[in-house]
Parts: sequence; structure tokens; C-alpha cells
Amino acid sequence: MDSYFDKHLEVAQEAARRAGKTILERQGQTSISEKGQNNLVTGADFAAQETIIKFIQEHFAGHSFIGEEQDLSANSDAADLWIIDPLDGTNNFVHKIPHFSISIAYASSGRVTAGAVFDPVRSEMFTASQGKGAFLNGEPISVSETLSLQEAIVATGFYYDRGIIMRKTLNSIEKLFEANIHGIRRFGSAALDLCWVACGRFDAYFEYTLSTWDFAAGMLIIEEAGGHCTDQKGGQLDLNSTGIAVSNGILHNEFLNVVGWNGNNGG
Ligand code: IPD
Ligand code: CA
Ligand code: CA
Repeated sequence: MDSYFDKHLEVAQEAARRAGKTILERQGQTSISEKGQNNLVTGADFAAQETIIKFIQEHFAGHSFIGEEQDLSANSDAADLWIIDPLDGTNNFVHKIPHFSISIAYASSGRVTAGAVFDPVRSEMFTASQGKGAFLNGEPISVSETLSLQEAIVATGFYYDRGIIMRKTLNSIEKLFEANIHGIRRFGSAALDLCWVACGRFDAYFEYTLSTWDFAAGMLIIEEAGGHCTDQKGGQLDLNSTGIAVSNGILHNEFLNVVGWNGNNGG
């Protein structure tokens, strides 16, 4: 038995692989609608969620679910909870940009103990279970050793808001460039942004509004890869947080000094 194996993780991985197949089969031939302004949802999002929940239920009876595309009304501190983003990066998917993922976390009483994020285009499976390390396709991964922002690639994302959150994000990007970073990336899948910090492709990532399903799995994967996750104010990240700042840990304070949202610098 592999050291990273456990039953929740095994089921999360297989559910994510199946959802990936469901999504790829629907590329270019699925319904598209708008949930809110600029917030797209497709037939593939719904089909993937159904695939995931059905598969998990076959293995675990009586567990609770929080899934983006269906109100399943579970509390984040439920005893056995699955947190699912069936298609993270729907905007990319709709625009035929091959960068999206499936994110599945298992949490027990508010603590994520297993997480899988699958990129079906690259066939990259990121996984972690509590205390057992983080892996990419079964190989151990760790965060970068970048010492300062001056040598860093930083990722970010924009919520659908076109007001204060957008302005604050743009303001932080400007300040990051002033800190002379190597570059900034906005690829469009928060779950992959987190995993790419975990495996050292990015040194840090921030976004001011996210939902639990965007970060639950990725948060554990970063922690198990040796990185650091906080909310956007530097407080402890938990399943009810909204803003997020993550990094390799080494440059976290420097990063927060630039992108930290202290409540009065939203413009
Ligand atoms: C979105 C993506 C995007 C992030 C947005 C998310 P969705 O998720 O993760 O990168 O910037 O905030 O809502 O809607 O494609 O599942
Ligand atoms: Ca998402
Ligand atoms: Ca989604």
C-alpha cells in the first residue's frame, strides 16, 4: 500500500478522474448559462458534480456534501463532509482554454484530511492526506525555496465582482510589480493555482473572494507540501474563510505586507 493512500483519498481521486472524463467528453458541446453576472455554468459542471456525488455515495453512505452546483445545505463542521468543485475554471472551459480542474476534499468536523485536485488536460493528479505529504501523480511534491518576492512568480484570480474587490486586486498587482517580482499569472482555476504553489511552479497566490470548494483540497495539499495558507488578513484559513493568501512560507510575511487586505485599503 502506498504511503499516501487512504480510503477517502482513494475515493476522491477516482471520483475526480471520472469527473474529468465527463468534462472532456462534453468539450464544445454543452449548454452554457450565466448564474450571475460573468459567472458561467455549463452542462459539464452539473454532469461532473453528479458523477462525483454518485461515486462517493457508492462508497460512503450517510456522508454530507457541499457542492458548487447544487445546494446540499451541509454545515462546514459536519462529521463526514465532502466539498466539491466539479469544474474549477468554467470560464476557461467555455472559451476552449485547456486549463481547468476538479477539486474534491474530505473534511471531518471542519478539518480537511484528504484532498484531490485533478487537471484532466495534463492528466495531473494532486493529492494529500493529513500528515502524509503531498503528491503529484504519486510523486512527492514540495513548495519552492524562493527567498523573496523579488525572485517570485505570483498567481492571482478575480472574482466576478467589478467593484471594490477588482480594484483592490489590481492595486495589489501594481504593488507586486513595484516589489519587482519576476511575474504575475492569472490562469483561471483557483484549485490549480493552489496546487501549483504546492509543487513550486508558483511561489505565492492570492485571491480576495473564494468559496470553500475552490480551496478546501488545495489548502491541505499546500500545507502537506510545506507551504503556508492564511486568509487575506493573515489570520488562520478555515473552511468559512473567503479571501486567501498562500505561499511557500518563506516569503509569506513579505507577501502579506503587499497583498494583505487590512480593511481600509480597498481602493
Ligand atoms: C473560479 C476560478 C477562478 C477564480 C474564481 C473562481 P469557477 O471558479 O477558480 O480562477 O478566479 O474566483 O470562482 O467558477 O470556475 O468554479
Ligand atoms: Ca471554482
Ligand atoms: Ca466550479
